Amino acid sequence: MREADTVIIDVLSIADYDSLRALWASIGGIVLRSADSRPAVARYLDRNPGLSFVARRNGRLVGGVLSGHDGRRGYLHHLAVEPAERRRGIASALVERCLDALERAGIEKIHIDVLANNTSAQQFWARAGWQKRYDIVRFSFLNSADTNA
Ligand SMILES: CC(C)(COP(=O)(O)OP(=O)(O)OC[C@H]1O[C@@H](n2cnc3c(N)ncnc32)[C@H](O)[C@@H]1OP(=O)(O)O)[C@@H](O)C(=O)NCCC(=O)NCCS
Repeated sequence: MREADTVIIDVLSIADYDSLRALWASIGGIVLRSADSRPAVARYLDRNPGLSFVARRNGRLVGGVLSGHDGRRGYLHHLAVEPAERRRGIASALVERCLDALERAGIEKIHIDVLANNTSAQQFWARAGWQKRYDIVRFSFLNSADTNA
């Protein structure tokens, strides 16, 4: 990492939830749903131990990412870095930790959903070597009465 040398990357624990949620809520590019509630994130971390990470500077959370797998493919969600800490390699370091952990879990391909209008994130993923897919259209089914699920 470049200027982020003093930034520590740690495994995300549910104790980080309030800080991470505050970061997610304070920036654009990420849509928060009931799937991002504390119990839902706790369940995600229980199902995917050691695969999600936070970045801290002097103990303060400045970035984070969720990652997990279903036994077949890996998925990253909600990669976020505080605006004042951007372009210092922090997101790249977070993603690298996820990819290493997923590789150790035997996962060979990883997906990320990016909002179609989030062009800066698309530039980040493309620059990191992720392939934009033109051959797939995602369909979603709402299996709940909660339209914010
Ligand atoms: C996208 C995001 C996570 C990138 O975080 P970051 O720590 O600034 O990323 P990095 O410093 O690791 O960037 C690595 C490279 O990605 C590219 N990149 C990063 N942000 C970019 C931007 N806004 N526009 C164009 N390219 C960008 C650059 O090539 C950069 O290298 P460089 O700084 O040497 O030019 C951050 O901008 C963010 O939190 N955005 C809001 C939330 C979001 O959209 N998350 C993604 C959801 S899919």
